[in-house]
Amino acid sequence: MKAAVVTDFSQPPHYQDFPDPVASGEDEVVVEVLAAGLHPRVRSQAGGSHYTSTGELPLVPGVDAVVRDRQGKIRYAIIDVDETTLGTMAERTVIDAGRSVVLPAKVDPVEVAAAVNPAMSSWVALRRRVDFSRGQRVAILGATGNAGRMAVQVAKRLGASEVVAAGRDAAKLAELPALGADVTCTLDQLAQAADVDVVIDYLWGEPTGRAMVEILTNRADRGKQLAWLEVGAIAGPQASIPAAALRSARLQIVGSGIGSVPGRDFVEELPKIVEAIAEGAFDVRAKAVPLSEVERVWTSTAGTSDRIVLVP
Ligand SMILES: NC(=O)c1ccc[n+]([C@@H]2O[C@H](COP(=O)([O-])OP(=O)(O)OC[C@H]3O[C@@H](n4cnc5c(N)ncnc54)[C@H](OP(=O)(O)O)[C@@H]3O)[C@@H](O)[C@H]2O)c1
Repeated sequence: MKAAVVTDFSQPPHYQDFPDPVASGEDEVVVEVLAAGLHPRVRSQAGGSHYTSTGELPLVPGVDAVVRDRQGKIRYAIIDVDETTLGTMAERTVIDAGRSVVLPAKVDPVEVAAAVNPAMSSWVALRRRVDFSRGQRVAILGATGNAGRMAVQVAKRLGASEVVAAGRDAAKLAELPALGADVTCTLDQLAQAADVDVVIDYLWGEPTGRAMVEILTNRADRGKQLAWLEVGAIAGPQASIPAAALRSARLQIVGSGIGSVPGRDFVEELPKIVEAIAEGAFDVRAKAVPLSEVERVWTSTAGTSDRIVLVP
């Protein structure tokens, strides 16, 4: 079969022949891939830089996909990349049926493949990592990316009374009120998020240290719990957190991702996320590209707004 194959972490994947997959475990099934999203997580997997990377090569990247099984059912599936180097950017792959959910027949595979990963980031963080309840206020750092835009919509769907969407790009911020943001601001205007209950942080790096100080020093009640959810690190892997931030306010910093959230929690949340996407609850930005163009698209679309979805 044809697949996107990484043979060197410093090079983009090449479209080439790859051995046909074989199912071995009890729940494993060989499926036909219909659409696989090129998420930041997939880029770091293919670059060997994700914190779960084992360094094993060759590998076929792709952490999730919409697939068709032998019975003709369309499923959304998550790959356990700790267990295999065969991801989803291939004509066929192997999935664990227990880590998949059957989709309604009418669903658009490209839309689902684009949307689940970014939507899951905030959905699982709010539902599984903090005691988020309806009526609470949420701020999103890095709200202009795919995951951040989804977080605006997810927070509202899960009952946030107010969403403050923060980012660095004014034109993209201006689109967010239509998705449910009550307040939009740049990263140096975060006093406007001072009294939120939860921060969903996709940035980390240098902006996070500054944002934390700005929010905490402007907080009306520093004894009120603030849950800071570290979900992405698009601005840098290290952040400088002042000691005083932790002592002078009721700040709780927790991460949300593979490892801090058990695989079964992701799987349990999947049907509700997929249902929301399938019913059109979220505005999804997706661009389908043939798998054969993987190498070109890998380098030419870094930083593009639409989520690239590879279609074999
Ligand atoms: N833990 C999880 O479960 C999980 C799941 C999904 C994603 N993530 C992570 O979340 C992050 C965002 O993912 P995504 O899908 O939204 O990516 P994306 O669609 O590529 O968007 C990234 C956004 O980050 C912004 N950005 C980049 N560098 C920045 C900086 N220095 N300061 C401010 N903004 C900056 C960009 O802003 P501009 O619009 O200004 O260019 C862009 O809008 C990634 O780190 C990803 O790995 C985590």
